[in-house]
Amino acid sequence: MAQNSPRPRILVTGGAGFIGSHTAVALHESGYTPVLVDDLRNSRESVRTGVEKITGIEVELWTVDCGNAEAMAPVFHAPFAGAIHFAADKSVGDSTRDPERYFDNNIGGTARLLAQLRAQGVSNVVFSSSCTVYGEAEPSPVDETAPTLPAASPYGYTKQACERLLHDSHAAAEGNLGVAVLRYFNPIGAHPSAHIGELPLGTPTNLVPYLTQSVAGLRPPLTVFGDDYPTPDGTCIRDYLHVCDLAEAHVAALQWLEAHPGAIDTFNLGTGQGSSVLDVIHAFEEATGLRVPHKMGARRPGDITAIHADPSKAKRMLGWSTRRDLKTSLADAWRWQQQIQSKEG
Ligand code: UFG
Repeated sequence: MAQNSPRPRILVTGGAGFIGSHTAVALHESGYTPVLVDDLRNSRESVRTGVEKITGIEVELWTVDCGNAEAMAPVFHAPFAGAIHFAADKSVGDSTRDPERYFDNNIGGTARLLAQLRAQGVSNVVFSSSCTVYGEAEPSPVDETAPTLPAASPYGYTKQACERLLHDSHAAAEGNLGVAVLRYFNPIGAHPSAHIGELPLGTPTNLVPYLTQSVAGLRPPLTVFGDDYPTPDGTCIRDYLHVCDLAEAHVAALQWLEAHPGAIDTFNLGTGQGSSVLDVIHAFEEATGLRVPHKMGARRPGDITAIHADPSKAKRMLGWSTRRDLKTSLADAWRWQQQIQSKEG
């Protein structure tokens, strides 16, 4: 990009969230201007400050619901070269207790956002999907041709429905809307500066934020949910990738859309390596020199045994692959945990 050409503006919904905030940094580093929209229902205003500290620029954050066209009108004061849509509720457990909210916010919100993007002539959309669309896929590694199975939770269903919605919007736009659907495996870690990271509200349900809070003494010992699975050490296997790698994939997807106007495609984003829960515990201990207090417990209902990505399509088409390993991801997650604790007292 020529030094004086204006930086293309990219709309980032859910921009104060875990992946959105890291993607804002990656966009800035690649010559874009991220414009964040987040109603802060599951994040905090202070995330903007973290992004500003890393990038050294003032960041536009609009605290509105991206599905509310009236509230969004001022956000479109200047044109967008693309949009990355993260804004969604994301807890599997919550979604079983409050399915109506998930359907409304995730599916309804995406429909209302897409209508605005098409009306505004935004030509590229990158969508935040999940490997949950594959269910218990056999065998791993899973590539993008694996069938999507009936969703195990309302949350999983919303990701499948949104993928369908994006395909239908793409078709209706008749070549004027490019779409990249990104299916994440398990994002973990934090920016190495520790200015941004994951901010789970209440007791974390995901493995790494629970683990770091447990090591910090804020929670009881970690319970390993099941050690009788048919895996080498009996614990479940997932594909954990560093959030900064994941953020870079969004930029690569946007650049791919710019080079292929009106295209649509789906990409798995993972390391291609499966790690068990015990692997994660041991990698954390090696990376930090600290012990992870833990005990074996019962299986968690709804957990699948093992899944990891075949990320070769993203490598081939987007030129993207992960660069940070599990220990680096866990060391960064721990640095972030220490940082939030020092702030909170
Ligand atoms: N785990 C524990 N103890 C804990 C928390 C988790 O042993 O306290 C285990 C789980 O049983 C699982 C692994 O750690 O084997 C990872 O669990 P996470 O909750 O961190 O992640 P999941 O793979 O269950 O969930 C992720 C995303 C969801 C997505 C889902 C699809 O967080 O958004 O994958 O299966 F829907």
